[in-house]
Amino acid sequence: RPGRPLVVAIDGPSGSGKSSVSKEVARRLRLAYLDTGAMYRALTWYCLESGIDLSDASAVEAASESFPLEVSTSPLEEFVRVGGVDVTQAIRKPSISAAVSSVATTLGARTELIRRQRELIDQHHRRMVVEGRDITTVVVPQAEVRMLLTASEEARLRRRGIQLGGSQTAEQLAAQVTQRDAKDSTVVNFTRAADGVVTLDSSDLDFEETVSAALEIVDSIINHR
Ligand code: DC
Repeated sequence: RPGRPLVVAIDGPSGSGKSSVSKEVARRLRLAYLDTGAMYRALTWYCLESGIDLSDASAVEAASESFPLEVSTSPLEEFVRVGGVDVTQAIRKPSISAAVSSVATTLGARTELIRRQRELIDQHHRRMVVEGRDITTVVVPQAEVRMLLTASEEARLRRRGIQLGGSQTAEQLAAQVTQRDAKDSTVVNFTRAADGVVTLDSSDLDFEETVSAALEIVDSIINHR
């Protein structure tokens, strides 16, 4: 039997530690978990695989409406499948990271992915940690808890470098973090917290400290409602 609704919406730039922190918060609170970035990445994979020109907005929009996506909503197992093909690893490749902003800035595709995200949240009786760029502002502005997870540019570049195995040059890292964020923020604002959104700056916190701080924010909000 589902409990009271508890949507924890977490936005932030790349390299802020958003995914790992959000997943751990979901585990500790026994909530479902949705990585919306994985949905934009899967759509990008599908478009490239289908030979769709990413600058053709109506083709990308049409693809978003028909692509057969299955994404994990459990923080305990990660999988993304498109029409039965497991793309969990493939969508993390640099070729996808480099192309995903073209898809994410296609407004018609955003509308469709947002519709699917809201459907998944409802299917889980609105008990879910949802992370992305526009969750606190567009997808679920009525979420019980809304958080912006930030970190200095220096910290974000360092973390993404470690995540990618330390083989990247400074230029490659900047392309994947700073330049991608600059392009993405032309359609969604995740660099500043909207009204009612709590900012959590993780620049000087390690993983455990960031998770604890996020859980404290959730606690303080749900115990005062
Ligand atoms: O968090 P990530 O790097 O996996 O996100 C992949 C891309 O998707 C990123 O370039 C921004 C975009 N994105 C978005 O526009 N809105 C979201 N809610 C989540 C991701």
